[in-house]
Amino acid sequence: MTTTIDQYAVMGNPIAHSKSPQIHTLFAAQTGQALEYRAVLVEPGGFAAAARSFGAAGGKGLNVTVPFKQDAWVFADILSARAERAGAVNALIFEPGGVRGDNTDGPGLVRDLTVNHDYALAGRRILLLGAGGAARGVLQPLLAERPALVVIANRTAEKALGLAVRFSDLGRVSACGFAELAGRRFDLIIHATAAGLEDATPPLPEGVLAAGGWCYDLMYGREPTAFVRWGWEQGAAQSLDGLGMLVEQAAESFHLWRGVWPETGPVIVALREG
Ligand code: ATR
Repeated sequence: MTTTIDQYAVMGNPIAHSKSPQIHTLFAAQTGQALEYRAVLVEPGGFAAAARSFGAAGGKGLNVTVPFKQDAWVFADILSARAERAGAVNALIFEPGGVRGDNTDGPGLVRDLTVNHDYALAGRRILLLGAGGAARGVLQPLLAERPALVVIANRTAEKALGLAVRFSDLGRVSACGFAELAGRRFDLIIHATAAGLEDATPPLPEGVLAAGGWCYDLMYGREPTAFVRWGWEQGAAQSLDGLGMLVEQAAESFHLWRGVWPETGPVIVALREG
């Protein structure tokens, strides 16, 4: 009799630098789970076909990254409430009855802040920079923590407004452009724009970070990101990049697939050193 090892993968484009195979391999070793996890490059427009053949070959679960999170949302047969809201799926679970879609990005961010960094979000004034897919993916889990308010600021203010309206039933959310932030103060500023790809930060007025405030960049890199550096320049009590969120969203996915929680701390340390 041959035994087959459960197969998992991350699909994206580009994918070569993905840390997900390393993270899930460490989780599997740590929890004694027998599985294989690889990175798969998918051509533009090819997501549904690639995911379908992965499932047909007996694949158990996928992570989905840029630029296919919306394609995965369409592909899933059943969506979790948070994935439905986010309009994006980063985790697929292949089950006999169909393919479940979930979004673990937002929960990953919240766990990194609240568990790894012991930062309570309740009652905080939060500024969310950006109104694209990354921002939309984290809004529901953030609002579930009951912050005092979330202001979404974006280069294109109308896009922020559209997002605020879409989530307004979940808490106090408003929207504006960057210039309108002058004179306002926030306890936590979360950076979710694509400006970081050019090592830049959105143009923010001085003093927008309250004394003792925290900064969090959804992006990460070998060196501190432009927004992490901006946070330190503004006197942030803490200025974090998104590596912890990356590992936490992976842990949420691992739990969805395997029903066990891996320990994320040692994996975050291993990635930071590696
Ligand atoms: P993602 O999935 O990474 O959020 P996206 O959906 O394309 O990508 O959204 C990109 C976000 O980054 C948007 O909020 C965009 O602002 P606009 O809506 O005005 O386009 C923002 N963005 C991109 N480049 C930026 C820059 N140089 N400065 C500020 N914001 C920028």
